[in-house]
Formats: sequence, structure tokens, C-alpha cells
Amino acid sequence: MTDFKRTLITTALPYANGPIHIGHLAGVYVPADIYARYLRLKNEDVLLIGGSDEHGVPITLKAKNEGITPQDVVDKFHRIIKKSFKDFGISFDVYSRTSAEIHHKTASEFFKKMYDQGQFVEKTSEQYFDEENQQFLADRYIIGTCPKCGFEKAYGDQCESCGTSLSPTELINPTSMISGNQPVLKKTKHWYLPLDQYEPWLREWILEGHKEWKSNVYGQCKSWIDSGLQPRAVTRDLEWGVPVPVEDAKGKVLYVWFDAPIGYISATRELTPDWEKYWKDPETRLLHFIGKDNIVFHCIIFPSMLKAEGTFNLPDNVPANEFLNLENDKISTSRNWAVWLHEYLEEFPGKEDVLKYVLTANAPETKDNDFTWKDFQARNNNELVAILGNFVNRALVLTNKYFDGKVPARGELTSYDRETLTAISTIKAEVEKSIDSFRFREALKNAMDLARLGNKYLADEEPWKVFKTDPKRVETILNICLQITANLTIALEPFLPFSMEKLRGFLNFGKQEWGKLGDSDLLAASHQVNVPELLFEKIDDSAIEQQLQKLFDTRKANEMLEAKANPVKKNIEFDDFGKMDIRVGTVIEAEKVAKTKKLLKLKIDTGIDKRTVISGIAEYYKPENLIGRQVSILVNLAPKKLRGIESQGMILCAENADGTLSIVSPDQKVKNGSEVK
Ligand code: MF3
Ligand code: ZN
Repeated sequence: MTDFKRTLITTALPYANGPIHIGHLAGVYVPADIYARYLRLKNEDVLLIGGSDEHGVPITLKAKNEGITPQDVVDKFHRIIKKSFKDFGISFDVYSRTSAEIHHKTASEFFKKMYDQGQFVEKTSEQYFDEENQQFLADRYIIGTCPKCGFEKAYGDQCESCGTSLSPTELINPTSMISGNQPVLKKTKHWYLPLDQYEPWLREWILEGHKEWKSNVYGQCKSWIDSGLQPRAVTRDLEWGVPVPVEDAKGKVLYVWFDAPIGYISATRELTPDWEKYWKDPETRLLHFIGKDNIVFHCIIFPSMLKAEGTFNLPDNVPANEFLNLENDKISTSRNWAVWLHEYLEEFPGKEDVLKYVLTANAPETKDNDFTWKDFQARNNNELVAILGNFVNRALVLTNKYFDGKVPARGELTSYDRETLTAISTIKAEVEKSIDSFRFREALKNAMDLARLGNKYLADEEPWKVFKTDPKRVETILNICLQITANLTIALEPFLPFSMEKLRGFLNFGKQEWGKLGDSDLLAASHQVNVPELLFEKIDDSAIEQQLQKLFDTRKANEMLEAKANPVKKNIEFDDFGKMDIRVGTVIEAEKVAKTKKLLKLKIDTGIDKRTVISGIAEYYKPENLIGRQVSILVNLAPKKLRGIESQGMILCAENADGTLSIVSPDQKVKNGSEVK
């Protein structure tokens, strides 16, 4: 670790088409911030780099939908994102953006250099073009039928039903998601990064040289490399982005995944004229903090670009996290299934550290994890309040009560005292060991163990009882408790920076370097401490219920939307329609089918005959209310046995947005047997 003179930490640049949510935080920004704060406490030379990723097709579509420019879209979200990070206390040294001039210049130069060095392959191919909108279509914006499984809404790059990766030309009945029309094939020229040529080098560099990378990261790299790398287009036909800086490239921009990681370099350049030291000096260590969906870009593609360019360092480590789910469901910006940072900050003012704590304690470091509001409440109430807050509060309150807030001196020590002092002295190595290997949840647990230890020590020693008989002994007990408290301000500083600043205020104690951690004489005897306030407050049930209600409302709204979004089925001929024999009939008998929730057994007078039909409407209609009602019934549907009863036809229902069913009936009484056409 210490062979390096400095560390450059980058954090995945969030797309500026939505705000930041807890998934982003847990996966990337919270661990990166902890690590940066930790290194700063150790007086290491470190930069924490961030910025907004402002290019790409989704941003142009959002703009189009809202009738504004892509720049308007990114201006709006860049502002929201940047402010929420700042308020939350992510300690970026710079938070830049890829629409900035410095970035266009940097990305452009980077491409040009690779181009001049002959590192791209030029290729003309046929790609789908939307004639109505006069634009080439990104793979994701073409849907059609999957050639493998027949799923009708497969994307141009992948079928989400069977998982096969596809190319748009493989889709049956391709449709442009932008206009709804069938796209046409049109020739276009692009520049490709011949990743296949980097394979031997990548094998060597990652699979041989970086066996220490997290197993989820290493594993993904291995599977990409083993399945054979293909040349990747690094340009696109699009107006929005960094223009391709060569002749003959009008209307083309750099692919967003080509320019975005260069954004790390641009941001460093924006921050300091000394930027090259952080990117090119071999004594600088480069770390990329990302989520698992970004692994291939940061471990394979960007390093290949850096290698090709030739003057930059390669990443030393890419401690990617898995995903955080929310209440058992995948977090999704488009479905609004998220806890948004800017909303959290408004709804839980002053509780930045609580969220940091919960996201770290439950970080998806080795597998996907779930955020639940109940767990959030429990960790706050049972850990931050009941252990950490309670301990430091009692230590400080008792010191004020018995010794006018002056730190008492230690007298003769018991073996329990000595054990406790030893535990203080070992904490540093433990936390370091975990943090240095990017195991932040374990590091946090180790640091919290010091508070647990203090809390137990205090409860066991009961100074409030001892004071009556042996006030001298209480001096030792409280000294030890206060030394633990002072140590906590160091051990927890990377994790809970706002709270530790507060706690230092109570202790009347300055910010210490990491090296001081483990010292049991941080506070001199007769040092004056202040009267404390509560470090953390309980979160009550009503606050949690409110959040759950909010999510419940979102789920409801999504269900409505999703139900509405069913596209029109493929055209049929009139003859196809004519094959269906739909009649009006009257319900003459109705009863529930035993042992089912949904099924009713109906006897219908169809005007032709009286027949039995099983219908899945029991949740919406009481049998007795159906008798005498007219319904529409498909009479020539092949009979089918359901629960041992033969159903001779189907009652037509309209399905509401929320899935409830409503019988379709004529709006005035007609003769049974009347045809519906
Ligand atoms: N915007 C991308 C995402 O959210 C991450 C970009 S990381 C960078 O998945 F390296 F390209 F900047
Ligand atoms: Zn499929």
C-alpha cells in the first residue's frame, strides 16, 4: 500500500438524467468517500474525483419528450446531483461534468491521439435508421421479436426474457421505440476499438497480474475475456456528445462510454494544473469505485484505451460493488423505485450520517443486498442511538456531573481496566486491515466494536453506583470511557464525519490524525469537556410508515402505468376476427368453485343453449349479484376442463389498470343469442 506516493480515487460519473439514489450511494459514493477521508486522516496525498455523465441517447430522448434541449436536461440534474452530494458530505475534491469545455477538449484530444496512432479500425456497416426522426437508432431503442424465444418486446441488444444477447438485425419485426415505425437499414461509417487485439495483454494484466481484485470483479473480467472480445464501436451517429474530431465525421460523436471515463481526467485537469502527476506518475495509485454494471468498462475497455494512448497509469484496483435493492425490488430510476438522496436530505434533516451508516453496515460488497426502512430504523435505534450515542452521552454527562466536566486522572487499574485499554490499542490495526482491503462494512463493525466495548464497560462498572462509596474509582472509570470516546472520534471519522465533528465539539477536542488512534491518553487529565447534546435521535414508527406509504403509492402508480403501456398487437385480417362467435347471454346460475379464490361457475342462457362457463371473476363479483345479468360470451372457444368442470366458452371482461376485471355487457337489454360483431 505504502509504495505509493499518492492516490487518485474516481467515482463512476452518474448520468445526469435523474437524481442520486441510495443504490448509487451504497455502491460507489459512500465507500469512495470513506476511503478518501481515511487516507486524508493518514495525511496521504489523495484526490476524490467525481462529475456528471451528460452524454448518451437516453438524455436526448428525455429532452425530446419534454420539449427541451439535452443541455437543459443535464443542467437541471447536474445541479440537483451536485448539491445533494455536497449536502450529504461526499468529500469530492472536484465535481465536474462532461458537457464542460475542458472535457470536450480532453476527450477530443484523447481520441485524436489514438486515431493518429492508428489505433482504431474504420468500418462501414448497415444500421437501423428511423426515417421519421432522421436518426440512427441505438440498439436499445429498437424492439422486436426475439429470434430465440419469441418474446415480442426484446431489445436490439438483448432479450430480457431469455437473456440472449442480440444485434438489432436479428430481431423479427423490428420497431423504432422513438417513432413506432419500422426502421430501415442504412450504411454508416464508425471507428472501432479492436478489443480482440488486447486480449492477450488483458489476460496477462488482469488474470495474471491482479488476482487480488475482489472476486466478483475478477470473475466478471475472466468471463468477458474467456468469451472472446469483439471490436467495439467508439463513435455514434448522434448530435449530442463530443464531436468526432476527424474529417468526414459530420453528425457523429464519441460513444458516451468512450468519453465518460475520460471525464475523470478532465475533472482532474479542471481541479489542478498538476493533474498529470495524478494520472501519469507511476507512483500514483489509481482506484475506480463503481457498481457491478460498470465493470467491463472500467476493467477492460477504459484500461485498453489508456494502454493504447500510452502515457497514462492503469487502475490498480476496481473495488466494484454489487447492487442494493429497495424493499425486495430492483431500484429503478424510470420506475421511481428508489430512495432519492435529495428527498432524504429534506425528510431526515441532520441525519446524513444515519444513511451513511446504514448503507455501509449493509453494503452490497460481495452480493446484492436489500435496503428496508425497518432495517434503517433498527440500525439507527439499536446501534447508533443505543450503543454509540448512549455510551458517549453517559460518559460526558457523568463527567460533568461528578467532576464539573474536567477529565479525571486514572488511578490504580483493575485487570478489566487493562483489558479495556488493550482493546483500545488494537482497534487501529483492525480497522486498517479491513479498510485497506475495501471491506468497509467490516471496518465499520470493527470501529463500532470500540463503542460496544465502552458501552459494556460502563454498564459493568456502574460508576453511578460506585460514586457513592468510592468516588476515586469513578475517576479511573470515566477517564477510560472518555479515552474511548476520543478514540471513537478518530475511528469513526471516515464513516460518520458530521457526527464525529459534533462529538469533538462535546469533547472540546480537535480533529486528530489517524496515527493517534489507539492512544489511551488522548485527553489529558483536567481537560475541560462540554455539556453534550444527543448525538443521535430515535426514529419513530410514523417516520418509517410514511416512507413505506410513499413506496406503496409508487408501486400503485407503476402498476397503473404498466397496465396502460400494453402496445397494440399485430394486425389481423377481418376473417380472423370473423372466426370468433361472440353472443350475448344471461347468467341464470352462479356459484363459487370450491377451494378456489378466483373462479366462478356460471350457467349462461346463450339463446342457443344453456351452458356452463368457468370465469376468473370471483374476486370482483358476488355470485348472487350476477344472476339475471347479461354478459358477452365467446361461444366457439374450444371447451376446456378447469378444476374438473368443463368450461364451454369465455365471458369477456375488460381488465382495469390495477388488474381488476369488469364484465363487458350490452348497454341495453338485447335478445339472448345476439351476435357481438
Ligand atoms: N454513467 C454511468 C452509469 O451510471 C457511469 C459512467 S462511469 C464513467 O452507469 F467512467 F464512464 F464515467
Ligand atoms: Zn428471447
